[in-house]
Amino acid sequence: MPVQSSRIKPQKRVFIKTYGCQMNVYDSEKMIHLLERDDYQIASDMKEADVILLNTCSIREKPEHKIYSILGRLKALKDKNPNLILGVGGCVAQQEGEKLLEQSPHLDLVFGTQRIGELPSLIKVVQENRTRVCDVEMTDTACAEAGVLPVHPQHISSYVSIIRGCNNFCSFCVVPYVRGREHSRPLNDIVAEVTHLAQRGVKEVVLLGQNVNSYGNDCGITNGFPDLLVALNHVSGLERIRFITSHPKDLSDELIQCFSELDKLCEHIHLPVQSGSNRILKRMNRKYTREDYLEKVNTLRTVCPQIGITSDVIVGFPGETSDDYEETLSLMEEVRFDDLFSFQYSDRPNTAANRFGHKVPPAIKGERLIKLQAMQEEHSLEKNRALVGSVEEILVEGVSKKDSQRVTGKTRSHKTVNFRGGEEMRGQLVSVRIKNANVHALYGERE
Ligand code: SAH
Ligand code: SF4
Ligand code: F3S
Repeated sequence: MPVQSSRIKPQKRVFIKTYGCQMNVYDSEKMIHLLERDDYQIASDMKEADVILLNTCSIREKPEHKIYSILGRLKALKDKNPNLILGVGGCVAQQEGEKLLEQSPHLDLVFGTQRIGELPSLIKVVQENRTRVCDVEMTDTACAEAGVLPVHPQHISSYVSIIRGCNNFCSFCVVPYVRGREHSRPLNDIVAEVTHLAQRGVKEVVLLGQNVNSYGNDCGITNGFPDLLVALNHVSGLERIRFITSHPKDLSDELIQCFSELDKLCEHIHLPVQSGSNRILKRMNRKYTREDYLEKVNTLRTVCPQIGITSDVIVGFPGETSDDYEETLSLMEEVRFDDLFSFQYSDRPNTAANRFGHKVPPAIKGERLIKLQAMQEEHSLEKNRALVGSVEEILVEGVSKKDSQRVTGKTRSHKTVNFRGGEEMRGQLVSVRIKNANVHALYGERE
């Protein structure tokens, strides 16, 4: 009797759509890694997928609304293919929990920000028991990273999570509610992950945390973050280290010194100021003053004159008067940020500011944002133009999406530079003389 050839199990396909910050991008990579171990492959189109997952963000109203509208549209796919599994993870999942299942009858799975490790088994429960599942438990002891090393061999630059959660409770911010308390990852695990990435060709790591400066505090370690940077500076094959985000109140002199002492640490800091008015900073519970912030900027530039400084600002925080707003503009004039992300304040569930009176009308928030962004464009242009004529070290990320004759990469200070070149330059460090600049990018020629 002929031996029946064993049939190859058809691979299941998963499509993951990611919204929000770099931590969500990292988490999605982790999900992919876990599901690949469970025999899934990535679907490039939602229509081909057996499982569709949305990794969501609830930092402001807009990204949250997006999720509800996309969920509405996904109903059509589910109607066509009743076996399709639809799941929502990330910060909206954590925030809404069961409510999401109630509001979207075609949704199968809701999983919280600390349940990524359980994702494969949660999908199995949905498949095998044909039930709908919501798991948004927060233990605050769980470390999503434990035992998992993501591999992104196609990447030149990789995110690496070093601390999750946040203890700061800025009055406008939902993060402590949807991500839980601070939880640092063991130093040895981080060094192992970065070494693993560097051995596979990754040239740059971006260390992630809502407040990287708190790294180690939850374990009673002082100076944890500078010490981690020193350890990572020794990883061979690694060329560049970056990190986001720093809270100004915790930016220590030891960390500032790292910019002049560690050759792999890139000269860029994202240091969100949020407002230039002391009255508003107090209501935001930021725990620093305008003067403290300006002093830190001054020290950074004294220790490392070429450092790129970027920031976040919120306009129209409850009670923000036109004088408060003008103080933010005057702080911007004083600092002259290399780049700035600016947002209109939006109410977030559970936060203290949600309950504050004196909400600023949307039209005024809109006007304030437009004027502020116009000012920033001038500053960005001025900062970029100042580099014309200089020679910069560029880490090439690949061929430019807009022009196949050009490659694109970043300076150490995090500015985008385009210059003539091809795919073979990907991952190389190249010296480029800057010839031209606009608000968003620099253009140059290889030296
Ligand atoms: N951990 C970072 C911020 C992460 S959230 C820090 O402490 O700086 C990214 C940015 O979103 C914030 O810096 C803030 O500018 C903006 N943001 C957060 N909550 C907001 C809200 N309710 N309305 C408008 N913008 C908000
Ligand atoms: Fe939110 Fe403040 Fe924590 Fe940043 S530091 S994540 S703004 S609470
Ligand atoms: Fe958004 Fe959650 Fe990040 S709310 S900004 S995805 S931590």
